[in-house]
Amino acid sequence: MPRMQSDTWWRDAVVYEVYLRSFADSDGDGTGDLGGLRRRLPHLADLGVDALWITPWYPSPMADGGYDVADYCDIDPRFGTLADADALLAEAHDLGLRVIIDPVANHTSERHPWFRAALAAGPGSVERSRYFFRDGRAGGVEPPNDWISAFGGPAWSRVREADGSPGQWYLHLFAPEQPDLDWDHPGVREDFDAVLRFWFDRGIDGIRVDAAPAMAKVTGLPDAGHGPGALFESRTWVGNPHWDVEEVHDILRRWRRIGDSYEGGRLFVTEAVVNGPERLSRYVRPDEMHTSFNFDYLTSPWDARALRAVIDASLAALEPVGAPATWVLSSHDETRHATRFGRAHTGGAFGGAALPASPTDLVLGIRRARAAALLTLALPGSAYLYQGEELGLPEVEDLPDEALQDPTWERSGRTVRGRDGCRVPLPWDGDRPPFGFTDGEAAWLPQPPEWATRTVAVQLADPASTLSLYRTALQLRRSLPDMHGTSLTWCATPDDVLAFDRGPEFRCVVNFSAGRLDLAGQGRLLVASESCAGGLPPDAAAWLLRGAVDVG
Ligand code: NOJ
Repeated sequence: MPRMQSDTWWRDAVVYEVYLRSFADSDGDGTGDLGGLRRRLPHLADLGVDALWITPWYPSPMADGGYDVADYCDIDPRFGTLADADALLAEAHDLGLRVIIDPVANHTSERHPWFRAALAAGPGSVERSRYFFRDGRAGGVEPPNDWISAFGGPAWSRVREADGSPGQWYLHLFAPEQPDLDWDHPGVREDFDAVLRFWFDRGIDGIRVDAAPAMAKVTGLPDAGHGPGALFESRTWVGNPHWDVEEVHDILRRWRRIGDSYEGGRLFVTEAVVNGPERLSRYVRPDEMHTSFNFDYLTSPWDARALRAVIDASLAALEPVGAPATWVLSSHDETRHATRFGRAHTGGAFGGAALPASPTDLVLGIRRARAAALLTLALPGSAYLYQGEELGLPEVEDLPDEALQDPTWERSGRTVRGRDGCRVPLPWDGDRPPFGFTDGEAAWLPQPPEWATRTVAVQLADPASTLSLYRTALQLRRSLPDMHGTSLTWCATPDDVLAFDRGPEFRCVVNFSAGRLDLAGQGRLLVASESCAGGLPPDAAAWLLRGAVDVG
């Protein structure tokens, strides 16, 4: 496999996010697992992606879907065993797929032995110094500072000491079950060096760095100036003491050195929701991470000018550091874009479950989602797909309250429903739930019966399906030489059309206008998100080969 042999594969890779709990179940318990993923690997190879990012698979109480890790060097029994992980890796590699994992180093689970030991050891102990334990203000009854949690409420919880008395507070920028580690503690750094080596030695190809901007805090933990009811809007923060602090980069450089010590190197991709492309570019300087998710693109409204501005700003900010862009439309944290794009306000807010749901026109949303796929896959750099977007899956907005598991739901006093609606297990085949996801009775989140028309099996049989569109586009992307370059040249167009060339032959056109767009004279049509008879329709995109036989 030529792509498996390249050391720079990540520069234009298409990476598929596997949200493991919801991908495929092999043991009938209704939760996705490694056996299910292994069985369905051919779907991913046939789809034409280059790599998988697998969300946390470690032993976890699942207070935050596995982003609360109790042991970084094992597999949760619900997902399988280390032997299953090794087998998965070997099979993925045989199919030409690389594997990226998600170790979550800003915080552990409250069930991690380090935190249990810290609780037991008491104030002032060496064990507590791995985390941020502090005395409260106002005689101990108020949190030590004004920092807030990404899931709502204060970022501090108070513990009961061994004698039962109310004691110190500990920091958690996410849920209380996710205490933040103090990365100034040398033992924390050394233990994570070993975690990286544990997985790299097994052959893992890369690491997603969860919540990277959180990993360093300003010494002394000063107030951030968050007012009452402040929201965790890290994209607007400047000089915040618990986010995007300079010392984060020391940790990232240390990790890069470890990855680079392996033959061919190992990939790092950061999750860094920071204030604009320039701040983001600092995470991908030559001795830091290779790539970083582009949340400005993910949250852009479906609007030609806005998207062009994000694309230009992203490319301009990355150019000086020599890093490729990454383009991403959805993830396990964001309302699915097929639903977002059918709303009156099409932009997202990361962790954007915080947005109040508003009515969506799903026919329009899916049309735009198909066009957005062609736009995204045509841009220079790497792209991340979220499982199910290749099926055009919408957000499930009517999950019953009792099914909700995202901590946001309870932390917000049951006002923000959270991210479960984008995590509903995939429909593989059959005409009723659980749609081949599990041999058991039901998936861990209920699947809508109307997904019978969206299963993989149904879409494979339909050349006009969203799955067929993705497969065609990914196959073209791999085979067209122009798509492996870094250039992008905008064509002169009206404001409500985006068109750009890549190399001498490839052109992508996206029509945001209300009328059909004549493509005559632009080249041979390679693929389009809608039928182009009579011109490119509104909310549609096309790929063309210029200089070839005319489409018109
Ligand atoms: C980002 C992950 O994608 C999200 O799912 C998780 O809740 C937070 N980081 C905390 O780990």
